[in-house]
Amino acid sequence: MKDTDYLISWDKNNLKVNYTEVLILGSGVAGLFTAIKLSANYDVTILTKKNIMEGNTEHAQGGIAVALSQDDSPESHFEDTIKAGAGLCNLKAVKILAEKGPDCVQELIAMGAQFDRQNDQLDFTREAAHSKKRVLHAKGDATGEEIERALVATTQRCSIKVKEDAYVIDFLKNNNGEIAGVLVLDTPTSKLEAWLAKAVVLATGGLGQLYKYTTNPEVTTGDGIAAAYRAGAELLDMEFVQFHPTALLLPGSPSFLISEAARGEGAKLLNSRRERFMKNIPGQELAPRDVVARAIWEEMKDGPVFLDFGFLGPQAKERFPLIYKTCFQYGIDISTTPIPIGPAAHYLMGGVGINTVGETSLPRLYACGECACNGVHGANRLASNSLLEGLVFASAISEKLQTKNIVLDRWEDINLPEVPLGVSERYSSDSSNIRRELRNIMWKKVGIIRDSEGLLKAQNQLSKLWREFTPRPEIKELELGNMLTLSLIMVKAALSREESRGGHFRRDFPLTDQQWQKHSVQKRGEEHVCYVSI
Ligand code: SIN
Repeated sequence: MKDTDYLISWDKNNLKVNYTEVLILGSGVAGLFTAIKLSANYDVTILTKKNIMEGNTEHAQGGIAVALSQDDSPESHFEDTIKAGAGLCNLKAVKILAEKGPDCVQELIAMGAQFDRQNDQLDFTREAAHSKKRVLHAKGDATGEEIERALVATTQRCSIKVKEDAYVIDFLKNNNGEIAGVLVLDTPTSKLEAWLAKAVVLATGGLGQLYKYTTNPEVTTGDGIAAAYRAGAELLDMEFVQFHPTALLLPGSPSFLISEAARGEGAKLLNSRRERFMKNIPGQELAPRDVVARAIWEEMKDGPVFLDFGFLGPQAKERFPLIYKTCFQYGIDISTTPIPIGPAAHYLMGGVGINTVGETSLPRLYACGECACNGVHGANRLASNSLLEGLVFASAISEKLQTKNIVLDRWEDINLPEVPLGVSERYSSDSSNIRRELRNIMWKKVGIIRDSEGLLKAQNQLSKLWREFTPRPEIKELELGNMLTLSLIMVKAALSREESRGGHFRRDFPLTDQQWQKHSVQKRGEEHVCYVSI
């Protein structure tokens, strides 16, 4: 795999160099919460690819799971998370998530996040595989937007520096081999800059855009994960992707998320004959996501599948205003007409390997949120655990960095790569075709149902695309380089795991196998996937 030879031409001597104590990459829930918590002690800068609001957090609908209601407990949240994780959860991480979650959510509320209430009490809804109503929501189905709003407002009050339109190309190391900052493309000026820091926190989110159908916004091309891999970080469990069962599926519409909370409140799935095909499956519409997504996939062979909000009665419009408004734009009134839906790539359970305080395998590099993996989600994330995970492990990083007192660390000399970085003379002919092909291959062969024949074909086709690809110094092409890098990593992990578990389903190995109860690990330069026991 040629995974480094796409960088931009540069002039080392005229490089603008910026300094900050803590550099946060990404402005979703994990990045912002880390920044806010560290800002009292350190000089903190956030770099974000587009604008501060844009990312997966803003698009989250259903909510944030937390054991805060009278009849709930962290123990029960722990049990449900472990069960959904299909034998691959890191128990220590899940315990931290369930136990620290309530305090983190209270902090978020104190920062101004307003969750929906009934008679002045927080209102909890149910989602798949939760044994209780445990999911807080805001403005009905705009939970992510409300959380992001509150965090952005707090960030502004904390005088944290924010640089938007900053595309992170690669990590920089100091002469001791430690992570010392990043090389950034300032997209409005097309100039390169170095940002140096005593600690770098990666919170760049996921990689949904590797798939033709995804609920994720355009920015989610896995750039941070790919850059960490190039720098030598370990990637864990990259075969585990969660496909959300219900995204809007209309010609010309985006794969707009139709929240699982809709099924939690009573919406039903219907096949092309308008029959409830989940009726006889344990858990029915609220069976684990992988089960529901596969059932829909099978039904779609016979025709379109629908989500029927009619079962909710007139409250559909009030409870899910964003879904109502979006579907209405496409000519569907959800209170009277079932919506055509299909599954879509939604969440990466794997990512840059971290421990429970967010340390990666590279010194001075920390990670949290969707780009990171400490096994808290196992092989299948429990619905609405991701916003909570972002808060809890951001908080863990901030505690760790406060204890370390990095102010006293010396600024070491930076080791700028010697053989940079010229974009090759030969540009690829049409990279938008390559992107389209990659997303098709991933959807068809590395998607909801996989087998060795399809995965091998995908590997060959993606390798061929890699050979054809020679990027321009533009953001779209740099993204595509990362997408190609990560798609090959994901295929390798999916081929290697000869069993089915959680989000990874192999038609040729349909059973879960005790022998595979371990995490996959991939590292640049290592030919084979390694495994570590849980
Ligand atoms: C949803 O609202 O269905 C998404 C929630 C999640 O993925 O956690």
